[in-house]
Amino acid sequence: MFKLDPIKKMDEEERLKYMNMLLKSQLSSEKDNLANLSNATGIIMACIDRLNWAGFYILRGKELVLGPFQGLPACNRIEIGKGVCGTAVKTREVQLVPDVNLFPGHIACDSASNSELVIPIIKSGRVYGVLDLDSPEKERFTELEKKYFIKFVEILNEYVDWRADT
Ligand code: SME
Repeated sequence: MFKLDPIKKMDEEERLKYMNMLLKSQLSSEKDNLANLSNATGIIMACIDRLNWAGFYILRGKELVLGPFQGLPACNRIEIGKGVCGTAVKTREVQLVPDVNLFPGHIACDSASNSELVIPIIKSGRVYGVLDLDSPEKERFTELEKKYFIKFVEILNEYVDWRADT
């Protein structure tokens, strides 16, 4: 069982480190990709505050398809190059968007979202999808979070077989 009490007393960086430690420990004891990705979204929501959506879009052929997530129901499919997620895939770069209303082509799945952090999932040079975080607050995401969520995806890459169907 997760111990979340310690989080309350932690500063931002300690909390991000704790999140990544929880992820590693969770993934190291299970091999099923779907279970691991589902728990990854639960770990994010438990450790990080002021989010309204956290989840995965997985590249299937030429489009992104919705994967495990927490939040309101979201768009099932996103074209490469469209929205913040599709842009992260096309550019292969992290998208830290302080105000999604100013992002050309932003896809509003949940009208509550005002800022977004999208990390492309790249392993051995190949893009497998994105990790998408949404917040109702403008300018919610920090450079420190960007750094630790890149690490979060690196941990996922150690344990998840993205070539499998789930
Ligand atoms: N806003 C995203 C779409 C996915 S939802 O936020 C869950 C985008 O523009 O790609």
